[in-house]
Amino acid sequence: SRIEKGGHRHFMAKEIAEQPVVLADAIAHYLQDSGITLPEPGLDFTQIDRITMVACGTAFYACHVAKYWFEQIARLPVEADIASEFRYREPPIPARSMALFVSQSGETADTLAALRYTEGKADRIVSVVNVLESSIARGSDLPLPILAGAEIGVASTKAFTCQLTVLFLLAIKAGLDRGTLTEAEAEAHLATLRNLPGLMNHALQTAPEIERVAKELAEARDILFLGRGAMYPLAMEGALKLKEISYIHAEGYASGELKHGPIALVDKTVPVVVLAPSDALFDKTVSNMQEVMARGGKVLLVTDAEGAHAAREGTWRTLVMPGVPPILAPILYALPAQLLAYHTAIAKGTDVDQPRNLAKSVTVE
Ligand code: G6P
Repeated sequence: SRIEKGGHRHFMAKEIAEQPVVLADAIAHYLQDSGITLPEPGLDFTQIDRITMVACGTAFYACHVAKYWFEQIARLPVEADIASEFRYREPPIPARSMALFVSQSGETADTLAALRYTEGKADRIVSVVNVLESSIARGSDLPLPILAGAEIGVASTKAFTCQLTVLFLLAIKAGLDRGTLTEAEAEAHLATLRNLPGLMNHALQTAPEIERVAKELAEARDILFLGRGAMYPLAMEGALKLKEISYIHAEGYASGELKHGPIALVDKTVPVVVLAPSDALFDKTVSNMQEVMARGGKVLLVTDAEGAHAAREGTWRTLVMPGVPPILAPILYALPAQLLAYHTAIAKGTDVDQPRNLAKSVTVE
C-alpha cells in the first residue's frame, strides 16, 4: 500500500528518498567520538597486502568504486570481481590477503560460493551486508552491516549508497593503519562524509528536472553512460539501473575508452549521460564529451556548478549537483543516476518495483 511506501508510488521512490536518513544512521553507527568503530575482532590493515572483493550486480559496482578508494587512500592493491567468474576461476589468493564480500541480501548463491572458496585461503573474510543473519554474514570473520533498512524494490538504491559508505570508512581505516593518510586528512574525509546526507537532500531536489529529462530519455533505444576514475563504475551502475527497470539498452563506459568502440554508436538518437563532477580529470572527460557532441550525440551532463559553468555549452541538458569533494562524488551522483532510471521507467510505464525477469535476491545459480 501507499502507507508502506511512505506516501510514495513505489518502494524504489521511497528508498531513493530515504537515502539521506539511512546514510546518516550508517555514518553515526560507525563514526563515534573515538573515530571509526568496527565490531570485534576489528581489522588491522597493517597485516594485509591486498584485498580481493567479490560481489554481483549493484554490489559489484560498489566494490569497483571502492577499489579506487582503497588504492588511492590506502595504497592497497584491490582486485574486484563478479562472483560468477571468480568462483570457477580458481584464482590464487596470496598470503596476507583479505577477502571482502558485498551483498545486500547476504544470500546470493554465487557470492556465497565465492566466499566458501576463500575459506582457509584468505587471512580474513569480511562481508558488507544489509542482513546480518544471512549466510554470507555468518560465513565471514567480520560481518559489517550497512544499516540501510529493508530494501524492497528489486533495483538496489539505498543499499548501494550505504555499501559505499561502509567501504569508504574501511578505506579510511586502511589508510590510517598503513600510514598513507594523516589523522588530519582522515578527519577532513570524515567531515565530508558527515556532510553527505545534507548534500543528498539538495541532490534530490533536482528530481522535477530529472523527470522532464527522463520523458525524453524514454524515447531512446540505447543510452550510454560515461565516467572516469571512480565515476566509471558509477556509469556502469547508472546503466544497470536504467536497463533493469526501463528495459532500455544502456551501457556504462570509461570516458577514455569511448574512442575504442562505443563512439561508433553515437548519433542524434543516442543520448549520452556524462557523470562528471569538476575533479582533476574533468577536462579530459569534457574533451571526450566534445567528441560525442561533434558527432551529433545528445549529451546529458551531470556535474556541479563549476563544471556546468565551464562545459555546459553545446550539451543537450545539464543537471547541476551540489559541489562535493571529488572522492565522495560516486555516492552523491548515485542519486541522479537512480532518479533518471526511475523516472524513465515511469515514463515508459514499466513495473518499477518488480521488473520482468529479475529477482531481488538470486539464491540459485
Ligand atoms: C540481484 C538483484 C540486484 C543485486 C544483485 C546482488 O540481481 O536484482 O539488485 O544487486 O542480485 O544481490 P546482493 O543481495 O548479493 O547484493
